[in-house]
Amino acid sequence: MERNTLVIGGAGFIGSFLCKELLKVSDKVIALDNLLRGKKENVKDLVSNPKFSLIIGDANDVTNLKKIIKDNKINYIFHLAANSDIQASAMNPSIEFECTAKTTWSILYAMRECGVKNLFFASTSAVYGELKGENFSEESLLEPVSYYGSAKAASEAFIRSYSYMNDFNALIFRFPNVIGPNLTHGVFFDFISRLKENPTELVVLGDGSQSKPYMHVSDLVRGILMLIWDNKGVNTYNIGVEHDTPVRKIAEMVVREMNLPNCKIKYGSGKIGWKGDVPHFSYKLDKIYSTGWKASMDSDEASLETIKEALGKK
Ligand SMILES: NC(=O)c1ccc[n+]([C@@H]2O[C@H](COP(=O)([O-])OP(=O)(O)OC[C@H]3O[C@@H](n4cnc5c(N)ncnc54)[C@H](O)[C@@H]3O)[C@@H](O)[C@H]2O)c1
Repeated sequence: MERNTLVIGGAGFIGSFLCKELLKVSDKVIALDNLLRGKKENVKDLVSNPKFSLIIGDANDVTNLKKIIKDNKINYIFHLAANSDIQASAMNPSIEFECTAKTTWSILYAMRECGVKNLFFASTSAVYGELKGENFSEESLLEPVSYYGSAKAASEAFIRSYSYMNDFNALIFRFPNVIGPNLTHGVFFDFISRLKENPTELVVLGDGSQSKPYMHVSDLVRGILMLIWDNKGVNTYNIGVEHDTPVRKIAEMVVREMNLPNCKIKYGSGKIGWKGDVPHFSYKLDKIYSTGWKASMDSDEASLETIKEALGKK
């Protein structure tokens, strides 16, 4: 069977990396992106490939979405469109409804109308909310504390009902923090951008003890491509790495790799960087490990790799 793929959010950080890898194993790769945070530059090396096209458009324009699906005989959709700036939606929650929840509904609706049966969905550890005791497993209650987390949890529920009603196959990965080349946001992007502007001082939100697992995008995409083609029914996986990297360590690594020995790192107080941020989470990976997938880099290795990539040292 031909693999004609549509990556929605394909000019973003993870989407552009996924497009590059999909080109090696698919007949056609269409990236659809409204360039809210994505950039044409992220796919500039792909546009000369005759199997690839970038379409600038919005996932909520269902008429256009249906035309793209039909014109290109799409049979696999990778849904990565979302607002990825949690701090922006803390100020304006409607961003999450439009970009994260409604896009899922629009895509599912278009799939139903066009008869597309296979979906990959980029979910998040933020669907779980704050860690209260045991590590989260895929069966844990979803108690999101951010608008972003709730829009993703709602998306997962939409996917379940559309899949049940229409016999869709859906692969859902709940990602931790994903890092790598072409980052558009997050702590690595933020620290490096700010230090380029002012190499003498780095102000860190919170006391620097906030610690999260960071996974390299290459490991994530390898997992997606390992499981998507034979996926049947709705399957949800936590995907991640086992160890965490504290913000303090990231700040120190960035300053060291940028060769700024005189830079002062100034920490704030408290564990939470901003309201809605989950300062620490941890989840079980047994289910994804049972498929044979395992990350090749731990959190510290992925962090260092990402800093080097951002500084052009790789
Ligand atoms: N990067 C992470 O750490 C992380 C963690 C958990 C989940 N995720 C999820 O993975 C996906 C990709 O994240 P990313 O880090 O690459 O972020 P990103 O912002 O780089 O990518 C998202 C892309 O979606 C596009 N987009 C947003 N709304 C759209 C719309 N209505 N129509 C068309 N395009 C639209 C944006 O322009 C952007 O290019 C997102 O769904 C995100 O929620 C990412």
